[in-house]
Amino acid sequence: MAQTTLITRAQIDRRVAEMGQEITRDFAGQDAIALCVLKGAVFFCTDLMRSIASDIALDFIQVSSYGNEKYSSGVVTILKEPQLEMRGKAVLIVEDIVDSGLSMREVHRYIEGRGASMVKTATFLDKPASRKVDFKPDYIGFSIEPQFVIGYGLDFAEKYRNLPDVQVLTG
Ligand code: IMP
Ligand code: MG
Repeated sequence: MAQTTLITRAQIDRRVAEMGQEITRDFAGQDAIALCVLKGAVFFCTDLMRSIASDIALDFIQVSSYGNEKYSSGVVTILKEPQLEMRGKAVLIVEDIVDSGLSMREVHRYIEGRGASMVKTATFLDKPASRKVDFKPDYIGFSIEPQFVIGYGLDFAEKYRNLPDVQVLTG
């Protein structure tokens, strides 16, 4: 399968550093948790956390999304719950890509329901043209066209996550 580079490693590093500075400012003085959405966001999340200058805890959540091609209701199931207490915490949900918006809308609702005092969302990539529900991430690495991308955590059938940059599958 042919692949072309869409976002280079240097572009990723620069942008993640900028996002970290912005998040450091917005989360100043808060009891913060980075909530990494497994599995794709692991790569972005560890880089992002290292660009945040203040103390921030780490936890994980995993959801399975049954895309709304199958179910118009868009059922999102929680496969792995976070372990840390979220009540009163400032939670930064960290995702690899927001597509239909269903997964992030549900994770956001779920964390609000656990009593977090502040819930923000950071996504490495955003495909705003693919949105099926109204959801706007607070921090966006790059907005891209509705195309299928791999690398830097993003997979195609569990492959390609370890590519250092973002590529488009072209056939
Ligand atoms: P949403 O609920 O439709 O926003 O789904 C987002 C999830 O779909 C992401 O967390 C990814 O796991 C997956 N996804 C969406 N677009 C892509 C892509 O271009 N490459 C790899 N995974 C994708
Ligand atoms: Mg994902």
